[in-house]
Amino acid sequence: MTTAVTADAEQLRHLAADIAREAGDLALRRRTAGVLLAATKTTLADIVTEADRDVEDLIRTRLSAERPGDGFLGEESGAAETSTGITWVVDPIDGTVNYAYGIPAYNVSIAAVQGSADPDTWVGLAGAVHAPVLGELFTASRGGGAWLGAQRLAVTATNPAGALLATGFGYDPSTHDGDLATIRQVMPLARDLRRMGAAALDLAYVAAGRLDGYFERGLKPWDFAAGALLVAEAGGVVTRLDTASARPMLIAAGADLHARLSAVLDDQI
Ligand code: IPD
Repeated sequence: MTTAVTADAEQLRHLAADIAREAGDLALRRRTAGVLLAATKTTLADIVTEADRDVEDLIRTRLSAERPGDGFLGEESGAAETSTGITWVVDPIDGTVNYAYGIPAYNVSIAAVQGSADPDTWVGLAGAVHAPVLGELFTASRGGGAWLGAQRLAVTATNPAGALLATGFGYDPSTHDGDLATIRQVMPLARDLRRMGAAALDLAYVAAGRLDGYFERGLKPWDFAAGALLVAEAGGVVTRLDTASARPMLIAAGADLHARLSAVLDDQI
């Protein structure tokens, strides 16, 4: 679907970056002070910390002050409709389990999209992924490229030794067998496989050429909104298979590997 892009994507990128920086710093301060579990969600393994909620509050408050009328879709608070055509899609702490265990691979992910909160119809305009412990801020704007700080990013083009791939698992233990069977099918394409625990960082790493490709079933819009734009703006391809199901499969890689992954993963569906 083609949607006319009306906003200045570069301005949105700067705003997303500023807020992601502030939000990541808050997440880090809160982590240093100690993590308090606030609740479990879909399963016992699916946790939300008090910091997730506070960081999302900060982001939401900052966005509504700067851009009243824009829509909002966050992992931890309710959605708000857009009256401007722009919606912000936010994961306050992606990699919450890493955060709770003290593993540095967590991030704040903020995206601005043109359209509603439906990933099948929106057009990504700008995104920021900030990993505060790692001190890295990845950003992208539509047509403006993907960046790590001031360094322009590009996905890998060839994988002579096989692809360095990443994937993830959902929180529902009943899905693990199926996901492991998928990995067995994909491994002939791989030199090795990573499971980092933060989908937005997996996508940022594909954009940066630190991973050749990434696939995962069952991601939520806030897990991939910013990261998918990073990959596309770094010259890669991102698609979702099986979008009518509860667990669509997201695939992100350079064009050649993306085609090879899609052929294998399509067979699994
Ligand atoms: C999770 C992480 C994880 C992925 C899960 C996501 P959250 O996000 O991105 O890597 O495997 O599917 O739900 O819950 O930490 O924001």
